[in-house]
Amino acid sequence: MLTIALPKGRIAEETLAIFSQLFGEGFEFESRKLILETGGFRFLNVRNQDVPTYVEYGAADLGVVGLDVITEKQLDIVDLLDLGLGRCKVAIGIPDDQELDWSRPDIRVATKMVNIAKNYFASKAVGVEVIKLYGSIELAPLVGLADAIVDIVETGTTMRENGLKVAEDIMDSSAHLIANKNSFYAKKEEILDLYGKIKAVIDSKSA
Ligand code: PRP
Repeated sequence: MLTIALPKGRIAEETLAIFSQLFGEGFEFESRKLILETGGFRFLNVRNQDVPTYVEYGAADLGVVGLDVITEKQLDIVDLLDLGLGRCKVAIGIPDDQELDWSRPDIRVATKMVNIAKNYFASKAVGVEVIKLYGSIELAPLVGLADAIVDIVETGTTMRENGLKVAEDIMDSSAHLIANKNSFYAKKEEILDLYGKIKAVIDSKSA
């Protein structure tokens, strides 16, 4: 049996919809239940940020997690497949009535994605102070905590409604199917069989 950690919410529902398409009905979590066993699979309903932990420790063989999280946490996992779900980008946001002089020596950038931000600015040889926040990132430039943010942009609504604009895109992201390294070797046939089936569904959607 394969254990698969799914991030609570829409991505879990859309992933389970792929399983329904492949294996029939029954791929739905009951209201408050955190484990779903069906069709020879065991699904775990976990917080988005916790998926990598379940997979890295081998409590789950597989997981579904954003490329932004894989990149930020520099995960030691097997990145199997881009599921194409939950597409978004990581971008730099600044107040929409301003341009930022990146050569200024005192620029502060607020973000939950400290590693992505630091690596990006280092690659551009721009020196900034990166400030870690855990949510509501768009607030930081509005109250003088930071000059800019690095954050997820999906529809763009949050930035727009808070008077921010995208200054630069950093990376595209979407949900990926990942595997624990040991599971990948111990259960290779099972995992590759499932990988092939899911890939066929995704390819047929994008065809
Ligand atoms: C995420 C992200 C942005 C927003 C982007 O926040 O950090 O704030 O969604 O989506 P949009 O472009 O469609 O508006 P989330 O909802 O996870 O809340 P958080 O700020 O508490 O992390």
